[in-house]
Amino acid sequence: MRIAFLGKGGAGKTTTSAGFVRYLAGRHPFVLAIDADVNAHLKGALHLTDFQGPEAELGEVKNDIIEYLKGDRLDLDDKPMVGTTPPSMKSRFVTVAPDDKLIEQYAQRSGNISLLTVGTYKESDVGGACYHVKLTGLQSFFHHLLDGPNDLVVADTTAGTDNVATSLSFAYDMNVFVVEPTKKSLQVYLDFISVAPHLADRTYVIANKVDGPGDEAFLRKHVAEDRLLGLVPQSKHLKRFEQGKKEALNDFMAEQQQVFEKVFTTWQSKKRDWQEYLDRLRLTHTKVCRDWLDDYFGGIKLDQGLDQDFSYERAIAGLNAKKETVSV
Ligand SMILES: Nc1ncnc2c1ncn2[C@@H]1O[C@H](COP(=O)(O)OP(=O)(O)O)[C@@H](O)[C@H]1O
Ligand SMILES: [Mg+2]
Repeated sequence: MRIAFLGKGGAGKTTTSAGFVRYLAGRHPFVLAIDADVNAHLKGALHLTDFQGPEAELGEVKNDIIEYLKGDRLDLDDKPMVGTTPPSMKSRFVTVAPDDKLIEQYAQRSGNISLLTVGTYKESDVGGACYHVKLTGLQSFFHHLLDGPNDLVVADTTAGTDNVATSLSFAYDMNVFVVEPTKKSLQVYLDFISVAPHLADRTYVIANKVDGPGDEAFLRKHVAEDRLLGLVPQSKHLKRFEQGKKEALNDFMAEQQQVFEKVFTTWQSKKRDWQEYLDRLRLTHTKVCRDWLDDYFGGIKLDQGLDQDFSYERAIAGLNAKKETVSV
């Protein structure tokens, strides 16, 4: 299962994602954390000092990732594989485990948390790079991720409603907007559900930095009761922690705990419809091909001739059969 934290810049996405990752890591065998923000701060916000492993940025190695996921597929002929290309039965897939080949190669690890980072702009990107291009590796990653109900994948995303424009918009089973009690912060959530009404039933709100009943009333007025997962106060403990008082982090975590319990139970109640996911991916791929990718690659139709026998259920069954053979 996958969850993303979204919202306006400064609302508390990274703080909340990091808190939720720590909350989960204290209760479950493994958490895959993904920093999908161009301003990569998730690692710092986790406040763990023992991260080990490669400092890889998915934005930099996107071509290697796509090449890896391509596996033995023959249906592409010489057509390029891109971030929205749906998998084939001969693709390679990713599983949510610290020793999955792709995760092991690109993630940093601390205890039972593995962290993948998309990465920031480089000097060579200035003026020329679009962040969506950096996200192609992550898109392909998600579309080849065979995660089950007990797998926990948490993403901290870019500010604003930007991910609506990519195939990442439907990659998550649940979207949580972190909203401050201000009109501008709230508007980012309202804009998202108005441009993506098909995602409204998987989209929720955490009210953050709530300072008193006036703030609470403001948010309750604008966010439907069944969408509001809870309120996190404007925290003195977090401030104290940021002033150097290490022990204050636990006090802040206690302030978030009730909300995280609600996030978790709501998330667990979601069921992914793999067929719907695949249909949407195929439609999205065709749309981006017609919109610009076909032209960009010299007029070939990138979405033609792809493996129509593919289904995620079959890929998962294949994976399980392989696991059984190994354990026999
Ligand atoms: N509940 C809270 N109480 C007090 N300060 C908070 C709270 N949540 C976040 N902050 C502070 O707000 C600032 C922005 O948070 P951050 O998580 O980086 O936002 P975003 O990722 O949405 O840009 C940080 O300085 C953070 O410490
Ligand atoms: Mg952030």
